[in-house]
Amino acid sequence: MKFFIDTANLDQIREAQDLGVLDGVTTNPSLMAKEGISGVDRVLKHYVDICEIVKNGDVSAEVIATDYAGIIKEGENLAALHPNIVVKVPMIKDGIKAIRYFSDNGIKTNCTLVFSAGQALLAAKAGATYVSPFVGRLDDISTDGIQLIEQIRLIYDNYAYDTQILAASVRHPMHIMKCAEIGADVMTGPLSAIMALLKHPLTDSGLAQFLADHKKASEQQ
Ligand code: E4P
Repeated sequence: MKFFIDTANLDQIREAQDLGVLDGVTTNPSLMAKEGISGVDRVLKHYVDICEIVKNGDVSAEVIATDYAGIIKEGENLAALHPNIVVKVPMIKDGIKAIRYFSDNGIKTNCTLVFSAGQALLAAKAGATYVSPFVGRLDDISTDGIQLIEQIRLIYDNYAYDTQILAASVRHPMHIMKCAEIGADVMTGPLSAIMALLKHPLTDSGLAQFLADHKKASEQQ
């Protein structure tokens, strides 16, 4: 399973990249705003900065336009920034039309704000590179987000769709593990969820014991 980090924070992207497990980055307009990035030129430069840190991984850059012509124009500009840019398009009627256009023209896409299997089926039919079902936001409204990943996996496998399932809105390590069990192609979440996979109390106590025994043995020599 590929690990994407869901942030526009360059330090966190660098930290995940340095760990050696980063396969890509997803951003959205809220994450860009959180970093204080605004204005077309600054936004475009920030995407290039992210691509340069990640080097070989896909970087999702979301369009703001919601009409077909606007999505195409914005998406083509974003795609021209760097070969690793994936144009992130919302799951709306003009978005699906735009995904078909981008797919026919060799531009990678990530269909975002997906909350049902029907929406995911439509995204695959339109030729999306990635589909982003929002696991955490479904959990937030007492609906099982992980179950949606299972449903989409079944549907995509039934018809061998190439669209990759990008489990988004991942919030904690259990989400990551469940997505891995189901066979999501990618997960995107915060650095904290990735780092939490490192943790086990028996690792900490075992390491402390090994080091203490080593020290004792060294002192006895
Ligand atoms: C998807 O790509 C979104 O950027 C993201 O995963 C949303 O996550 P949130 O629900 O934690 O805001």
